[in-house]
Amino acid sequence: MKALIVYYSMSGNTEAVAKAIGREIHADLLSLEPEKDYPSSGFKKYFWGGKSAVMAEKPKLKPYQFDANKYDTIIFGFPVWAGNIAPPIRTFLADNSLNASVYAAYACQSGSGAEKAFRKLKECLGHDLSRTMILIDPKDKPDPAKDLQIRTFCKELTAQERIT
Ligand SMILES: Cc1cc2nc3c(=O)[nH]c(=O)nc-3n(C[C@H](O)[C@H](O)[C@H](O)COP(=O)(O)O)c2cc1C
Repeated sequence: MKALIVYYSMSGNTEAVAKAIGREIHADLLSLEPEKDYPSSGFKKYFWGGKSAVMAEKPKLKPYQFDANKYDTIIFGFPVWAGNIAPPIRTFLADNSLNASVYAAYACQSGSGAEKAFRKLKECLGHDLSRTMILIDPKDKPDPAKDLQIRTFCKELTAQERIT
């Protein structure tokens, strides 16, 4: 199995989880970066990011390397924005045709909305997600229970891979 974690992270929570999963299952990481950064502090942070998520925008991304044929598993990681997927994930899905056999996703949030965001992700992806995981601000509010959640997610994903 060769897995890729495609993620966007504004303030490091989603990135910390991407690195933890990457270590656990030896996956490659692809960090998506918008060409024009979203404001990352104050009122503007929630206003512009939230608006972009609600409007289902697809912000242009900085160049990245991605070979769809290299991976049979793709894991998406994103922060929940206004109950939706963070827009750079939308851009990635629009810009690439994927042919992996297993898709999974995790979402970081501070309250709620991840379930709805997973539904949106499935719509954009046109595939079901074989595993999902929701974490509450795992970097800002570290907790051994969250580390265990990540390890369990990885274990279940790799077990599933062996039987698909
Ligand atoms: C624009 C914006 C909108 C957000 N909307 C939500 C939301 O709808 N529900 C929620 O629980 N958290 C929301 N959050 C909080 C983030 O999802 C949460 O803090 C996440 O862990 C941040 O991940 P990151 O550090 O990888 O950026 C929002 C944050 C931002 C910046």
